Amino acid sequence: MLISQLRIPREIIDVLIKEGISELYPPQEEAFTKGVAEGGNWLICTPTASGKTLIAEVSIMKSVLERGGVCIYLVPLRALASEKYELLKSRYGRFARVAMSVGDYDSKESRLSESDIVIMTYEKFDSIMRHKPAWLERITDVVLDEVHTVSSRERGPTLELTVAKLMYMKPDVRIIALSATVRNPSEISKWLKAKYISTNWRPVPLREGVYYRGKLYFEDGIVEKIRGNVEDPVLNLIYDELEEGGQILIFYSTRSMAVNAAYRYSEKLLGAIESSDWLWNASERLRSGQPRTEIIEKLASCIPAGVAFHHAGLPYGARKIVEEGFRKGFIKVLCATPTLAAGVNLPARRVVIHSLYRFSALGGGLIPIMEYKQMAGRAGRPQYDEYGEAIIVARSKRDMERFIDYYVKGEPEPIKSNLRNPNVLPAHVLSLICILENTGRQGILKILKNTLLAVQEGLNRVKFDVENIIEYLRNEGFIKGERIFKPTRFGLRTSQLYISPSTAIVLRECLKRTRRVEVNDFSLLHAVCVTPDMDKPFLRSGDDELLESYLEDYSEYLLIDVPDRFDEIEDYEEFMMGVKAAITMNAWIMEASEAWIEAELGLQPGDVYRMVEACQWLLYSMGELARLFRVKDVYEKLRKLRIRVMHGIKEELIPIVAIRGVGRVRARRLFNAGYRSLGSLASASVEELASVEGIGKVLASKIKEEASRLISASHT
Ligand SMILES: Nc1ncnc2c1ncn2[C@@H]1O[C@H](COP(=O)(O)OP(=O)(O)OP(=O)(O)O)[C@@H](O)[C@H]1O
Ligand SMILES: [Mg+2]
Repeated sequence: MLISQLRIPREIIDVLIKEGISELYPPQEEAFTKGVAEGGNWLICTPTASGKTLIAEVSIMKSVLERGGVCIYLVPLRALASEKYELLKSRYGRFARVAMSVGDYDSKESRLSESDIVIMTYEKFDSIMRHKPAWLERITDVVLDEVHTVSSRERGPTLELTVAKLMYMKPDVRIIALSATVRNPSEISKWLKAKYISTNWRPVPLREGVYYRGKLYFEDGIVEKIRGNVEDPVLNLIYDELEEGGQILIFYSTRSMAVNAAYRYSEKLLGAIESSDWLWNASERLRSGQPRTEIIEKLASCIPAGVAFHHAGLPYGARKIVEEGFRKGFIKVLCATPTLAAGVNLPARRVVIHSLYRFSALGGGLIPIMEYKQMAGRAGRPQYDEYGEAIIVARSKRDMERFIDYYVKGEPEPIKSNLRNPNVLPAHVLSLICILENTGRQGILKILKNTLLAVQEGLNRVKFDVENIIEYLRNEGFIKGERIFKPTRFGLRTSQLYISPSTAIVLRECLKRTRRVEVNDFSLLHAVCVTPDMDKPFLRSGDDELLESYLEDYSEYLLIDVPDRFDEIEDYEEFMMGVKAAITMNAWIMEASEAWIEAELGLQPGDVYRMVEACQWLLYSMGELARLFRVKDVYEKLRKLRIRVMHGIKEELIPIVAIRGVGRVRARRLFNAGYRSLGSLASASVEELASVEGIGKVLASKIKEEASRLISASHT
């Protein structure tokens, strides 16, 4: 079926044809023929890269053009939000107002009422709903992309309750849910009150198989010999693929395995992959544009060989360079961790899964089939490959047979509700009480009726959980009332700040103690870093000594007691991870370089930036609670500390980083060159500023302009 045959506004058809999309893929044809664009709730379950986005975008654009109102497009990750934003903005920006909303959780985001399409994460939308802005009334359509996220233990409940609240508050909003891996679509569609479409059609056929001792075993019984006869199975698969002229994406279970493999293969393959200017430039861009840490140096030295690695320890900019190189075909071999499969759309002709075992704090085990299918689904590039190939590496005959039966022939696990997860349910119950204002148990249950849990298990067991949570929230002062519940101001702020009740309790306790303890920066960093909501680093075997010496040095400044290391082993472990986070953040605001942090604390830039995100938010939240409890002097300290954590700077640089384009490194250089205030920057000449290392002429004049603007803004 041709796009032009669809009964949708002409503008949309023109845009798509201009994009080179003139014919519908079969699942798209099915969806439109059945009436997706006409309205109603829909669940679309079709494989990776089968064009689900187009189904959703056409439907909501039709709604925008014909009805007006706001359409919300929800995704599980920020990286995906940017991807969708770029796509929709470039396609429809001319006749629809497309916006993206990420970051700060404590906001009504009133500006969004001016938009037609808003892209955001599930968490962000949940946080906005907690502020109950008037513009929620204008929502007409909601897209739930990657709806299988509902089966994630920590984040699934957010998605589930977002839907439940939405169905309760705005029952006429229509929902379009998308996923590649749903085994139980009828259950999920029952939850969403949706019709569903489920197909196995793929734009590029996928062959799944297992490699064992020089041969590939496919599910249909076909066995193929692989060229190459070296010891290392992956290297054989690489040689074989390069000979075909294709690209290969290899998934490893840990970061260090991915890095070491890339490093090894870059030496072995040097010269085997065609060199190019792009590769040498990329390597140069990494060295000059990214913090010079060991991990960046390793990546920069791999890339000229056409080999790279990709994992969450890399800073965002470095990951983008790798993704670009792979997409453009210069990087031929990419060693990645499984986070890549969930995040970015980076297909390869051949995908290799190096190991299906995963080690975690709880021990080792085989990964779920769902995770395997997501990695395998990356194989095959539309328009380039005749078919994609996903290959598991087996190390014994027994494994080979077992992997074929269990993974290759297997179906992903059914999607299950995780709403009863005790780590997250209290925060959600509190949010329901805040949204409903004066409500009893019945009111809460009315919303919970709209959850996947209600469909899958009924509400009986969760009733009991809710009862306990209400008791807990009341005892801790988040809510009031015996039969009708109302949030206290503490409860309401906790919910709006999007922190968990258990974190709010720790922060409240720490604020109380500030009246008795002499508070310094470390006390406050430590307080927020040990809360349950902090993104904490893992401990290495050698960390104990460092952590304990810190605790000893700072013992009189701590706002929270150290758990007993023998009686409360788990708490102690978690606490020490928090201490390590605090030490890292402390080094960060003392302007330790990323390279130093990586070498001394074993934390890579990507880890540090994630910690910075969580830490600055918790400092903000603690500051808001300090205002609530009228702990004024601490509020001021927290405010400054938050800016320092956001930028990784000492206090003296605070005025200078207010300038856009000036981060910690440039601010330090300017300061050391004698520019210690906005005034001195505004009055310097462009030439003078440009002579500071790392500040070109263009930036110098921008700095000067911004500095004057900020000064005059502060006077008005
Ligand atoms: N009818 C079409 N003709 C040609 N290309 C198309 C068509 N529909 C979609 N595409 C292209 O296919 C690619 C994959 O589409 P999309 O990202 O929507 O996949 P998806 O089904 O959401 O997969 P995933 O499960 O990985 O998110 C995109 O580059 C898109 O532009
Ligand atoms: Mg998609």
